[in-house]
Parts: sequence; C-alpha cells; structure tokens
Amino acid sequence: MKLTYFGHSCFLIDACGTRLLFDPFITPNPLAASIDTAAIAADFILISHGHVDHLADAVDLAGKTGAKVISNWEVIDWFGKNGVANTHPMNHGGSVVLPWGRVKMVSAVHSSALPDGSNGGNPAGFVVETGEGSFYYAGDTALTMDMKLIADEFQLRCAILPIGDNFTMGAADAVRAAGFCGAKDVVGVHYNTFPPIKIDTREAEVMFSNAGLKLHLPSIGGSVHF
Ligand code: NI
Ligand code: MN
Repeated sequence: MKLTYFGHSCFLIDACGTRLLFDPFITPNPLAASIDTAAIAADFILISHGHVDHLADAVDLAGKTGAKVISNWEVIDWFGKNGVANTHPMNHGGSVVLPWGRVKMVSAVHSSALPDGSNGGNPAGFVVETGEGSFYYAGDTALTMDMKLIADEFQLRCAILPIGDNFTMGAADAVRAAGFCGAKDVVGVHYNTFPPIKIDTREAEVMFSNAGLKLHLPSIGGSVHF
C-alpha cells in the first residue's frame, strides 16, 4: 500500500487501487500550500472527529470526488446538514465490510466539537483491513491501554500516530502506542503545524529507532510504501 502525506493529519492510502483519504485539512495549512486539492482523487474520506483541523476541506472534497464519507454518527449528521449525502455513520467498536476490505472504528481519548459548535460525538481512530494488509490510524488521542486490543485482532503493516504532543500524545508515548498495537513501522502526524505542536523531529526519530521501530516522516506531498 502507498501512503501520501498532505500535512497535519491528512494522508491518502492507496491499497489495491482503492483510495482512502483521512482528515483533510489542507487549504488552511500554510505548510501544505504546495498541495492542489483539485488533483486529489478519493473513493472514501474517513474523519476521526469533528475538530476543524481534521475536516476543513472535507465537504469540498466529498463534493469534488464523490467519495463516501465515513465517521461517527454526529459528524455524519453535520455532513448531511452541509449537503453531503454519500455517507456512512459508525460508532466505536463497530466495523463495516466494504467491497475492498473492512473498517473498524476504535477508541480515541480526546474531544470532538464541530466547527459550528455542535456536538461532534466521540473522537475515534480506525483500523482498516485491505487486500494489501491492515493499518491503524489513531486520530487525535492520548496513549490508551485500548491500543493493546488492536494487536490481539490485527497484524498491522503500519500505524499512523500523532507525535506532536500538547493536544495528543507526543513521540515518547507514540513509541509505547506502537508497542501496544504491534506496529513496527509508524508514520508520524499531527506535529509542527501550529506552535504548540512543534517538535524536534530528529529526537522523535531517535526515540523510535532506540525502541527498534521506524518512524516515517514523509514530506508534505511525499509518499511511503508499506
Ligand atoms: Ni482534535
Ligand atoms: Mn487535531
């Protein structure tokens, strides 16, 4: 599978030709100015929670791409009110089988309010099974013991974990999260976009390598293969 990074917590996974876009926040992000959202094609858009730094471009991209939006009940209700009808609501612990694989919504410890102040439900992560293997996107979360449940059920090719600290776990806890969920390869997200989440990326890479893990930090617009 191929992961393309669009900055902050936005990335696209291409697995067996199915394109899954996560948490689009591109046009408000000056670091992602090189990304042309008109050139992004997606079959599904997965939204971890209601915060604007995870869905700023989602209504626009859902319209342009025709992708089906997957999120929790409350976030999907908000998409409906914003004119997006091609949606699939879920909630924690539930999974959905799709023609190309399976999506399971898992716990995240964070908060979730929508841009208009309405209830964003509970924040989530996703474990996604594809024909090219499984991956875990944690969303915005603290380190949680629930991540151990993922290793019981799935053999992950990679995990996409926040490493920016302050609003989510930082790199040290992300190393522990990788151990909990059983991922050797980690893509770091949710760092350096705003002053409170600026980190020393070299230090983060060393923390992972000292634990026998690989932290991938693709450039914005760059890709990694797993
Ligand atoms: Ni958030
Ligand atoms: Mn966030």
